[in-house]
Amino acid sequence: MKEQIQPADGKLGILLPGLGAVATTVIAGVAAINKGIAEPIGSLTQMGNIRLGKRTENRYPLIKDFVPLAPLKDVVFGGWDVYSDNVYEAAMNAKVLEPVLLNAIKTELEAIKPMKAVFDKSYIKNLDGNHIKQAATKWELAQEVMNDIENFRTQNGCDRIVLVWCGSTEKYIEPSAVHDTIESFEAGLKSNDANISPSMIYAYAAIKLGYPYANGAPNLTCDIPALIELAKETGTPIGGKDFKTGQTLMKTILAPGLHARALGVRGWFSTNILGNRDGLVLDDPDNFKTKEVSKLSVLEDILQPEINPSLYGELYHKVRINYYPPHGDNKESWDNIDIFGWLGYSMQIKINFLCRDSILAAPIVLDLAIFMDLAKRANMSGIQEWLSFYFKSPQTAPGLRPEHDIFKQLIKLQNTLRHIMGEDLITHLGLDYYQDLVEAL
Ligand SMILES: NC(=O)c1ccc[n+]([C@@H]2O[C@H](COP(=O)([O-])OP(=O)(O)OC[C@H]3O[C@@H](n4cnc5c(N)ncnc54)[C@H](O)[C@@H]3O)[C@@H](O)[C@H]2O)c1
Repeated sequence: MKEQIQPADGKLGILLPGLGAVATTVIAGVAAINKGIAEPIGSLTQMGNIRLGKRTENRYPLIKDFVPLAPLKDVVFGGWDVYSDNVYEAAMNAKVLEPVLLNAIKTELEAIKPMKAVFDKSYIKNLDGNHIKQAATKWELAQEVMNDIENFRTQNGCDRIVLVWCGSTEKYIEPSAVHDTIESFEAGLKSNDANISPSMIYAYAAIKLGYPYANGAPNLTCDIPALIELAKETGTPIGGKDFKTGQTLMKTILAPGLHARALGVRGWFSTNILGNRDGLVLDDPDNFKTKEVSKLSVLEDILQPEINPSLYGELYHKVRINYYPPHGDNKESWDNIDIFGWLGYSMQIKINFLCRDSILAAPIVLDLAIFMDLAKRANMSGIQEWLSFYFKSPQTAPGLRPEHDIFKQLIKLQNTLRHIMGEDLITHLGLDYYQDLVEAL
């Protein structure tokens, strides 16, 4: 397979629908890194290592030296937003990064101006932008997004394009008939079906053109049969949903450990306060519902109460998010976890994570774009489950349970890289180190 991977020659265009806190933090970060004034901490593609071969071989190359990834100096950013602020202004408003840092890369950031957005207020009530495309039908909007993408590609001399949704969370909807097939979806675009959300229009445009699409929010977007089918037809990698940061990251680190030791979990109460625009959008119950569904699924999957009712059958799991402007992007979360051990004796764990939401999300956006581009060059199309590592609610084949345990997700990701590069997979069995003993038995 290694021989079949196209080289990462030329420029990679990373287009982000939604140029808010997360998007501007990744764009500014890459500009600062390329200037040599910052480091890509938290990014597996830039700073992570991978073990190859046996432990005794001591081969731990950087991932970027092992697989042919697009170098950061070849990356060009663009995007869409419902507000017309350029990336410098949007980053200043988001207040994630220091003005000193942003001023050092002001020229690069000011040059990135959002394209007009596809927007429908019925999906996000708490936003009031006016930098919005006007067209008679959703079909025409999709054509306009395709034109935007192709114009961006030619104007910036890009060889390849990837889209990562960094827009606000849309209201909760369930898949319906219009999402079933490519035909029903395209007919729905033409008849302005209310169940086609703006994020689906961007996704349709990208996938139709064969450009990879990753979804950083919990909305359905490309997790519908019509777009999965289209992705197969056009040979396009897709993935989602919802960047795994903050509290859910902690949950998927801790819960596998409790489960591994057969410790019981009776309750897990999680609450958050945040004051950025994401928090404002999630203050609306319809939008919060989308996030809640995404956040709730992880524990059930990791602990599997149906398989082990004595340890997890009574699990009570609650997630709350409250909008609290004074905290800005510095989200604070509290978790109270009621666990029990030997002979049923109860214990408690308390976590108070003072995190920076966009600082955790930015490297995820970068890694997803870089790995999605690799997937495309390696002829991997459809749902990229090996990128579950980055998502709160990983998209999987219909009917297949997602894997939420971050350590299993990492093994899957690393083995995928070994597989496409023709290296031995690592099972961690390790019996061969004790071959003398095995043979003696
Ligand atoms: N920060 C995190 O840790 C994190 C984690 C998981 C998921 N997310 C998700 O990532 C997304 C971005 O988060 P953020 O903190 O940057 O939010 P943000 O509010 O700062 O940015 C979102 C931007 O998207 C724009 N937008 C909304 N609808 C749009 C549309 N239809 N087309 C183009 N632009 C549109 C908004 O105007 C805004 O500028 C949110 O959906 C959030 O839930 C963030």
